Amino acid sequence: MTEPTDAAGVRRFPGGFLWGVGTSSYQVEGAVHEDGRGESIWDRFSHAPGRVVNGDTGDVTADHFHRWAEDVEIMAALGLSAYRFSLAWPRIQPAGRGRPNPAGIAFYDRLIDALLERGIRPCPTLYHWDLPQALEDEGGWLDRSTVDRFADYASRCFDAFGDRVATWFTVNEPWVAATLGYRLGIHAPGRRDLRLAVRASHHLLLAHGAAVRAFRTSGHDGRIGVVLSLAPTYAASRSAADAEAARGSDGYTNRWFLEPVLRGAYPADMLELFGRIAGPLDSIQPGDAELIGTPSDFLGVNYYTRRVVSAGLSHDGLPWRVEPAAPDVPRTDTGWEMTPGCLTELLVRVRDDYGDIPILITENGSVWLDSPGPDGRTPDTGRIAFLRTHVAAVHRAIEGGVPVEGYFYWSLLDNFEWAEGFRSRFGLVHVDYPTGRRLVKESGKAYAAIIAANGLLPEIVVESGPPEELAASAAPA
Ligand code: FCB
Repeated sequence: MTEPTDAAGVRRFPGGFLWGVGTSSYQVEGAVHEDGRGESIWDRFSHAPGRVVNGDTGDVTADHFHRWAEDVEIMAALGLSAYRFSLAWPRIQPAGRGRPNPAGIAFYDRLIDALLERGIRPCPTLYHWDLPQALEDEGGWLDRSTVDRFADYASRCFDAFGDRVATWFTVNEPWVAATLGYRLGIHAPGRRDLRLAVRASHHLLLAHGAAVRAFRTSGHDGRIGVVLSLAPTYAASRSAADAEAARGSDGYTNRWFLEPVLRGAYPADMLELFGRIAGPLDSIQPGDAELIGTPSDFLGVNYYTRRVVSAGLSHDGLPWRVEPAAPDVPRTDTGWEMTPGCLTELLVRVRDDYGDIPILITENGSVWLDSPGPDGRTPDTGRIAFLRTHVAAVHRAIEGGVPVEGYFYWSLLDNFEWAEGFRSRFGLVHVDYPTGRRLVKESGKAYAAIIAANGLLPEIVVESGPPEELAASAAPA
């Protein structure tokens, strides 16, 4: 349990709390043609005209593949106790199947060993969206055989790294992969069909369950869980129609994933809705939901902002509309609302609805475009405020009895932000892309101070939650 605010007014976190940062392979590594790496769907997608802002690609990006040692030194200097990165499936199995590529394994061996030497816990994600293109050519996440391929790939990762890795993440944000990749066409592989998105989401969830099962039989110690992007959802008004819309949107983004993972069953209202709007759910077979619900050890929660919805229809018939950012709520440089209080509410809700599963905040962060001045300092005060208020929000959840065991800031480095390319900067560390030079921003130093104190100094305030009228209309679970 958390120790309460101490005599010096510091809000302390429990002993052993993990303080981490996150990255993902395609976003930071670069070196896409080196050491036998195969093509991924993001290589193909980012090179297609018009898909990514400014035609940016992950070919070089932050060059972590070559600069990992420097990056580990930076993490050590910040005092971090954990690093969440992802294994690039096409580095390990260039065509998505078969014997692992030794050079790909060797890269992650070097990284993992260096982290351990520095006392930083390596926390790899098995899948952060860079599916081998060879598997996409056979149907990718629309084809059930990809689940088997993933279970095989996962087993090979457990065999290669399981002697040193104690914390594993299976699939990153199946909702984003399915919705942006298959319904909205904004992410790879760029499809636009709700029916396909539902199918892909099911196979991504199955892949999670199959990986957990493979881990249990691998003989390795350690813990494993999925990473979900959860958006606390509020109705725009007290009307019954808006409340209904909020419940639907919450079902689509949150419950469709939480329920099979944590209860072993899809929510009945969403099965009905998808069946009605997107046609028969023939990819879901008997026993699937139970496989997805194979008990995992923790839940990874990615949180960026809240969602407010009202009654209406999406372009493809989903019965709600997402409201634009409210003018009276502070926003980041991408226009996302800063709503730390909603993070506390989200965590409490997950505990209330799904019990005491340990939670890791696997991503939380914000875009600010400040760059270094002549003195090398990046005065990113917006990011500092975001960081502190969200850490305070996590602390409040812990005080309320939610078993949060770690917090990973997104991201260590500025990097390739998917369809947004390099115009979004999420890093605690500024990256000068032409030279690869790294400079720790003031927010990085602020995070180091939080880590050193294992908590927050007294002056940090946190707003309590969403505006009162929205709190009253929060989507019921
Ligand atoms: C999440 C992704 C991560 C990063 C952040 C900003 O949806 O998991 O890779 O892009 O958003």
